[in-house]
Amino acid sequence: MEFSFNVNQLLKQEITKVDSQLQPCRQNGIDRYGFQQLQRMLYEIVDRMGEASAKAQGLRGSITTGKKLELAGHRLYIMKDSNSNGEKGAVVGILKVGTKKLFVYDHSKVQHELEPLCVLDFYVHESRQRMGCGRKLFDHMLRNEGLSAQHLPIDRPSPKFSSFLKKHYNLRGTIPQVNNFVIFEGFFSRRPADA
Ligand code: ACO
Repeated sequence: MEFSFNVNQLLKQEITKVDSQLQPCRQNGIDRYGFQQLQRMLYEIVDRMGEASAKAQGLRGSITTGKKLELAGHRLYIMKDSNSNGEKGAVVGILKVGTKKLFVYDHSKVQHELEPLCVLDFYVHESRQRMGCGRKLFDHMLRNEGLSAQHLPIDRPSPKFSSFLKKHYNLRGTIPQVNNFVIFEGFFSRRPADA
């Protein structure tokens, strides 16, 4: 997705992690006005990618916006292509994770109250799907969070996302739950302590 401003000026790495601290806007030597300008750019990226994600999933409203990111305590990984749109760069995908208090059933139908890190939103721009960008973004998040794919509950995975998880992480069997989160086989084995 292209923007009128220079994406490379805001997002320095190929994949940038953003949380409520809005780190990409806190650049060396920047004053309050400069921060606000970068914040506006970041919000536009998050809002427009969030909208496109909602549209791709057939949702009525965005679940990812700049404002929500600042308030909700989630972490958003943003992937860019620095060589697109001239020297300005373009945004390729977003992946949002965050902790949720969940009641999770195990294989024996015993309920556990947990607060695991969950996948909340995932979107790669239509022009870049099925080229490995989603895998790169997801792997980066797993490394950064120190987790394996089976340890992340997924909030209502779409058919494309289910196929993605099957193909790249061999996640197939699920443990039945009563909420919207999908828990895969392997969730309870070698699970790290909740954050
Ligand atoms: N149809 C079926 N499977 C697909 C499709 C598609 N159109 N696109 C990607 N996949 C799956 C397939 O398993 C595919 O492998 P294949 O091409 O051999 O069949 C694999 O993903 C490709 O892997 P990547 O290229 O690494 O993934 P991609 O960059 O396409 O990103 C993603 C995957 C994020 C699911 C992307 O397809 C997308 O944005 N889809 C629309 C939005 C969406 O459904 N997001 C998930 C919502 S649920 C949630 O966020 C909790």
